[in-house]
Amino acid sequence: MQQWNTSLYDGNHAFVFQFGKDLLSLLKPEPGEHILDIGCGTAHLTQQIAESGANAYGLDASDEMIVEAKRLYPAIPFAVASAANFSLQDLDQKEPFDAVFSNATLHWIPDAEGVVRSLSNALKPQGRFIAEFGGKGNVALFRKAARTALLELTGRDIADRFYFPSPAEYASLLEAHGFRVEALWHFDRPTPLEGSDGAANWLRMFGGAIFVDVAPDVREQATVRAQDLLRSSTLFHDGAWTADYVRLRIVAKKIA
Ligand code: BEZ
Repeated sequence: MQQWNTSLYDGNHAFVFQFGKDLLSLLKPEPGEHILDIGCGTAHLTQQIAESGANAYGLDASDEMIVEAKRLYPAIPFAVASAANFSLQDLDQKEPFDAVFSNATLHWIPDAEGVVRSLSNALKPQGRFIAEFGGKGNVALFRKAARTALLELTGRDIADRFYFPSPAEYASLLEAHGFRVEALWHFDRPTPLEGSDGAANWLRMFGGAIFVDVAPDVREQATVRAQDLLRSSTLFHDGAWTADYVRLRIVAKKIA
């Protein structure tokens, strides 16, 4: 299980939830609705859902994130649970939710079928599922550089464990679980990274699914080498770093 440093997450990587504000305009929360935020992290977006007058509920697999979320927003209910395997009972909820929302989380969970089954069970009929996460091609240059660096250093060639589906793949999965896909976007969102070591810091923060079972000292060497490799790529321009994010954004409704 990935361990999260919540100060680093809220500091250098605040773009994760700042970009999520866009997604709230697709959620359109209504006063009195019950809305589940899957992968709420430190819950800044969950709080914005609550500010609309809806009853927001935050779920995250990370203890560290939920401890910080509770400290920041004590009025919101939270649970530590896996998005791939949770039930209303686990959340102490009697009634299903009007909507499930998720920003920048689902790419961490290879068991996508478990996620869709769990969230479908948590939704009312006609309930909405609004999500954004990494789509096919996401951070391709980062993943390639990290893999090459690790291969050079150790001779090991490891495929990463991210889940970055194509639009067709994810729409089929939703349809197979009784959803109608109302809108789906697959788009580039080049994302500026702070500082002269922006690429290395991104890998330090998010590289856990790339450097799987790699000793910390080797991981650090591979991180530095990957950043060197990336200096000759389109991600490094005029001394500034940009991550090659590709998003998948979904609006779906549970119809069966
Ligand atoms: C993303 O938001 O696309 C992402 C963030 C961290 C690691 C991988 C993908």
